[in-house]
Amino acid sequence: MQKQATLVLIKPDGLKKSLTGNIMSKLAESKLVIIGARVARPDRKLVEIHYQHLKDKPFFSGLVDYLQGKLHGEPYDRVLAFVYYGENAIEKVRKIVGATNPEEAEPTTIRGSYGRIMTSGLFENVVHASSDPADAEREIKLWFKPDELVVDLYPAKPCAHNNQPALDWA
Ligand code: TYD
Repeated sequence: MQKQATLVLIKPDGLKKSLTGNIMSKLAESKLVIIGARVARPDRKLVEIHYQHLKDKPFFSGLVDYLQGKLHGEPYDRVLAFVYYGENAIEKVRKIVGATNPEEAEPTTIRGSYGRIMTSGLFENVVHASSDPADAEREIKLWFKPDELVVDLYPAKPCAHNNQPALDWA
């Protein structure tokens, strides 16, 4: 099978609960490699685009607040973003991450171990992982610039950033 890339976000609750090490140890079981990593404070627009498929849900605004860290406060108003890469990466990572609803997730998965349902009903499920190849490409391009990845995943074009030569997605 061809190699795939997938986006993983450690959400603000994962940071507040000091779970970065635990999450990365679990993901290392996949034997995938990390080809991009950054800490990000996404603006509202980026998060709205990230979750655009849920824009009509009643919990959408709360979900955007959650990923922006507004529910967890400073210094957890950020996420850690990773691109994992290798054979069957999307399915492998989703299996380790577990089901969206932490109560339905297998107890040994990341969401099953550490997630919870908030009083508001929103799933506080610690991590994001891309669900299919089209979403993975869309999400990786949203969270990373071409030169922040050590593998050339998708076509890129030259551009200027602060008058310096840089790369953007083609
Ligand atoms: P979704 O993209 O459907 O799932 P996943 O994150 O597993 O790809 O939903 C995005 C996030 O929205 C999800 O991680 C948690 C939140 N969410 C809820 O809080 N309640 C819900 O009923 C759903 C479907 C999602």
